[in-house]
Amino acid sequence: MINSGKILKIARMGHPILREISKRVENPFDPMIRNLIQDMEATVNYMNCSGLAAPQVFSSLQIVIFRILKTTDNPAYELTPEYDPEGVPWTVMINPSITPLSDEIKMGRESCLSLPGFLGEVPRYHSIEYRFLNKNGEEEKRIAHGFHARVVQHECDHLNGILYPQRMKDISTFGFKEEMMRYYF
Ligand code: NI
Repeated sequence: MINSGKILKIARMGHPILREISKRVENPFDPMIRNLIQDMEATVNYMNCSGLAAPQVFSSLQIVIFRILKTTDNPAYELTPEYDPEGVPWTVMINPSITPLSDEIKMGRESCLSLPGFLGEVPRYHSIEYRFLNKNGEEEKRIAHGFHARVVQHECDHLNGILYPQRMKDISTFGFKEEMMRYYF
């Protein structure tokens, strides 16, 4: 994606902004919001991650962006269980909400820009419906499963002041990515 956004500084776990409940966006067309979204996109590209929530860049607003690369663009994803090889195109979610579609819970590895270098095994709903305003201010509704559903749940948790270690059931699966990949995965 070609864009002229700035690379933003990332808040790390322990910073109080990551514990706040984010405010709803009243006007998706506000130039301040448009700029923030553009900068968030540039930051995801630069960091080469799946997604980013506004509180992670010090804006306590209900905005999330994500994209999931096709496996052909990122072969490492083939190692991720339940990964959809088609990926998901760039998505901007304003004021998102999630409804689980069943009680089925799956474990999966997660990492987060706000906990650089770490990963952990996190339980998430396997199937969800999620709704949001897109960047044109239109309502969208989608169904997601597996890794796609996991990314949406992880990012939306940021809007409620929750980081993935708070969702973990077994803290022994939390550790430095380099060591965990070498010894456990
Ligand atoms: Ni995160």
